[in-house]
Order: sequence, then structure tokens, then C-alpha cells
Amino acid sequence: MAVNHQVLLAEKPRGKLALENFAFAEAEVPTPDEGQVLVKARYISLDAANRAWMQGVTYRSALSTGEVMAGGALAEVVESRVSHLQPGDLVQAETGWQEYAAVSGKHLEKLPKIEPLTHLLSVYGVTGLTAYLGLLRVGDPQPGETVVVSAAAGAVGSIAAQVAKLKGCRVIGIAGGAEKCAWLTGELGLDEAVDYKAGETRRALRAACPDGINVYFDNVGGDVFEAALFNMANHGRIVCCGAVSAYDDAPPPHGPRGVPGLIVTKRLKVDGFVVMDFYDGKAAALAQLKAWVEAGKLKVQEDVIDGLQNLPSALIGLLAGENRGKRMVKVS
Ligand SMILES: NC(=O)c1ccc[n+]([C@@H]2O[C@H](COP(=O)([O-])OP(=O)(O)OC[C@H]3O[C@@H](n4cnc5c(N)ncnc54)[C@H](OP(=O)(O)O)[C@@H]3O)[C@@H](O)[C@H]2O)c1
Repeated sequence: MAVNHQVLLAEKPRGKLALENFAFAEAEVPTPDEGQVLVKARYISLDAANRAWMQGVTYRSALSTGEVMAGGALAEVVESRVSHLQPGDLVQAETGWQEYAAVSGKHLEKLPKIEPLTHLLSVYGVTGLTAYLGLLRVGDPQPGETVVVSAAAGAVGSIAAQVAKLKGCRVIGIAGGAEKCAWLTGELGLDEAVDYKAGETRRALRAACPDGINVYFDNVGGDVFEAALFNMANHGRIVCCGAVSAYDDAPPPHGPRGVPGLIVTKRLKVDGFVVMDFYDGKAAALAQLKAWVEAGKLKVQEDVIDGLQNLPSALIGLLAGENRGKRMVKVS
């Protein structure tokens, strides 16, 4: 019987996520029931949200200790007990952090075998869709407007910022460190970048956005959110995509200042969203993203780490800002 190597959540983190929070295990490769498929993970997606799921209920149930760590993967069908999938087909599935999983075939779609395959997890996966649909459906940026994106050198942020540029906006990215900021302006073509780790983020944003921010795409929350809030233009829109600054630490002693006062006086629209809310626009979004990538107008940055055993350190590193673009782990 083949062995299924797994990574478990051994203990919920009390402070910052650490290697001790994970354990490695071996199990039997499962047998799929009727309606299920047995899949083998090829690339496991690393997402900031992996850490948020350890905190409690989000848009999915909370993780429990001893469970296989949750996560999505680009996976290959090994055995199928549904009619629409065959062995060898590629799917995006919630496999968890393990080599093999038996999953329901009901909502799985056969994916095209494109080159490189990793794009199916980055620009053509949840990452690209979140950036595209969140920015355009929630933020509704207009040509000439000023758009600010936080965690702009990350997976979602790097695509959202480029989409805003392609829509004719003036775009400012916020990221940690001079190197990432130089990459945002030099390589991705953003108009300006602000290094939040240099401090004075509010002042730096004021200098970069003299007419105020029309759309703020927020991936991080916390102090960066506050700095953007104080720089919003009247009738601006804040797209609440995520709050990575709050995922891996004790909750901050107070919320951002300016809530709700500035929301009122500046007549702001503050909207949270989960990407699945907009899946009616998925096919059109994917077609547009593909056209931009193929025309060389949208750069896809990926950060691929090798080996299932490196999943815990890869997630810890992502939360510390090690990654540029979409981080994933190659499993097979
Ligand atoms: N709403 C949805 O449907 C949806 C779907 C997918 C993802 N998301 C959200 O999108 C956001 C980005 O996720 P991702 O998976 O693409 O991760 P990512 O941006 O590739 O990686 C996370 C980045 O966050 C930055 N960061 C970490 N701690 C920070 C802090 N305290 N303050 C400011 N920045 C910090 C780091 O970059 P620096 O070096 O710049 O610090 C790090 O590289 C997350 O908030 C996630 O929850 C939402």
C-alpha cells in the first residue's frame, strides 16, 4: 500500500506561527467512495488565509488540532468515481497538506494543461480572480483615478496593482522593504511605491497621493489601513480583501483611528468581499487575465518551493514577507 505523507496542525499557535505548531505523519492512501475522486497533489497553494483559518471561523470552519492542515492544491486525478473526470485530469481541489486526498468530485472542474502549470494556481486561480474581481467589482476604479494597493508585492496585490494600471489608473503599491518597492516601480511599472517598514506610512502616502486615494485595495488592515484611511479622497472606495497584519499576532490594542468618523466625513464606501461572491464573472475574468498575460501586459510572479516537508516554513516565511508574488510548494 502506498504511503500518504501528511502535514498536521499539531497545536494551534498562541503567538506567531512556528514550526512546532506542525507535525508530520504517514497514512494509507485513501480509497475514493462513489462520487469522489482520489487526487495526487502537484502544487499546494500557500495563502495568508491558511493562518487566519487557525484563529477561528472565517468564511470556512476553523481548523482543529490533529487535523491535516487545510489548503488548496493543483492536483491530478488518480482514480475517479465520477463520470466527468478521468485519471490524469488536473483539478483545483481542497486536498489539505498531503500527497493524496479523496475529495468530492461534485464541484471539481477539469483544468486545461497549460504551460507553466503553476499559472493555474496563481493568475488563473483564486489569487488572480480575487485581485481582478475584487478590484473591479468592488472598487470600480475609473481611468485617471488614484488606486493604492497594500501587500502589493504579494500574490493578490501584485495582480490587483497591475490590473489597476491596465485600467488607466495611477497606482501606488505599499510593501515591506526598499527592494520590493523598487521591484514594484521598476518591474511592475507602478507609479510609486511606499515602504511601510520605513515608518511614516501616512505621510508617505500623502506625498504619493496629493489628490487623495480614490480606491484603496486593502490586503493587510491595521496601521496600513489607518494610514490609507486618513488619505482617502471624498467618495473613495475601500476594498477590504484581507487583514494579514492581524493573522499572525495578538489582536492590536485598538482598532484603526478614523473609524467611523472619516468614513462619514469623506463619504467613503467600505466593502468586504469573498471572491466566490463574484464567480458569476469568473469565465470573463479568466479570459481577460489570459489575454493580458499572453500579450505580455500582465506579469506573473511566482515563488515555488520544493517539497512537502517545507510547507510549514514556507507559510511562516510568507507571513514574514519572504515571498514575492504567488508562493506555492511543489509536491510531485
Ligand atoms: N477576500 C478574498 O476572497 C481573498 C482571497 C484570497 C486572498 N485574500 C487575502 O489577500 C491578502 C493577500 O493574500 P496572499 O495569499 O496573496 O498573500 P501574499 O500577499 O502573497 O503574502 C502576504 C504578504 O503580506 C505582507 N504582510 C505580512 N504581514 C504584514 C503586516 N503586518 N503589514 C503589512 N503587510 C504584511 C507581506 O509582504 P510585505 O513584505 O510587503 O510585508 C507578505 O508577503 C490576504 O489578506 C488574504 O487573506 C482574500
